[in-house]
Amino acid sequence: VNIGLAYDLKDDVPAVQGEPDDAREEYDSLETVDSLAGALESLGHTVIRLGGGRAFLENVLRERVDLVFNIAEGRGTYRSREVQVPAVLEMLDIPYTGSDPECLAICLDKPLAKDMVERAGVLVPRGLCIAHPAELSAHDWSTFPLPAFVKPACEGSSKGICRGSRPDTVEALHREVLRLLALYRQPVLVEEFISGAELTVGIAGNPPEMLGVMQVMPCSGPDPDFFYSIEVKRDWQRLVRYICPATIPAAAAQRVARDSLKAFAVLGCRDVGRVDFRLDAQGQPFFIEANPLPGLKPGHSDLPMLAENMGIGFVDLIGRILESSCARYDLCLKKSA
Ligand SMILES: Nc1ncnc2c1ncn2[C@@H]1O[C@H](COP(=O)(O)OP(=O)(O)O)[C@@H](O)[C@H]1O
Ligand SMILES: [Mg+2]
Repeated sequence: VNIGLAYDLKDDVPAVQGEPDDAREEYDSLETVDSLAGALESLGHTVIRLGGGRAFLENVLRERVDLVFNIAEGRGTYRSREVQVPAVLEMLDIPYTGSDPECLAICLDKPLAKDMVERAGVLVPRGLCIAHPAELSAHDWSTFPLPAFVKPACEGSSKGICRGSRPDTVEALHREVLRLLALYRQPVLVEEFISGAELTVGIAGNPPEMLGVMQVMPCSGPDPDFFYSIEVKRDWQRLVRYICPATIPAAAAQRVARDSLKAFAVLGCRDVGRVDFRLDAQGQPFFIEANPLPGLKPGHSDLPMLAENMGIGFVDLIGRILESSCARYDLCLKKSA
């Protein structure tokens, strides 16, 4: 099968003046694309690198591909940027891996995703969305639970999440909301801080199957103040320990398994995804967000690491994602491989 690869390389995306220093955090390295191409080739396929942005458009119109393996995050700071590549592929009627435009747009909009997941009966952190400085001063913060957690409403890769994200006072909360509004030019989500274990659930397949639950813990041991900030993600080899399968009580593990598949389904995710949770002080799991375009850098990104720990190697993981999408399109992988 001729498989096109859609991706956005960090080096292909030009810097924009005044952008935050983490603006290109979610884009991929050449190493990731090489690993992915290598895995697809070792599964017997021919790989055609389509790239992202304008190059992707030109390449996809010129090349003959049977299916596109999509890891493109999309261009610009638009809240629907992840939709760009799958929307073009649907327009051209080309099969592709992973979730569709509607799912990708919903999941990048964290307040919207939370609403849908909550309506499906899953616990989510209480909170509200602030789109303008005037809304910040109009709201009565005197009863808001502190510490709070403050983050951009439509980002990923811990963009905008740093030391100041967990304010202990209303004044610090206001400062952080104003900083994010100005820097990221999008609404800001203010939530209650969920203080227990940090968990991420890997899901793949059609029908979707839970691959495992991985716990992210500071190297220094359990810490109720810990969160997965950009500083921690960038320096993960020194700062964090990954425990997979997670060592959490059986009741919490059962809830996380059920809730992650529920969230995956209600958000309309397909083929692959990661769902993030945190446990509260009582050990109850709270949905934080869903990632229908999880990072796939072997030995580095959460999902390949989780899979590896569960005995699923990188090539196997990529094969499962591919098979899952092919089943949807009645594409037979073996025929032309
Ligand atoms: N309400 C919350 N309470 C505690 N920690 C949170 C909360 N929301 C986010 N976090 C922390 O911030 C990290 C990044 O937030 P998340 O919404 O997953 O953004 P991203 O899309 O950048 O991964 C989480 O992994 C978690 O450590
Ligand atoms: Mg996350």
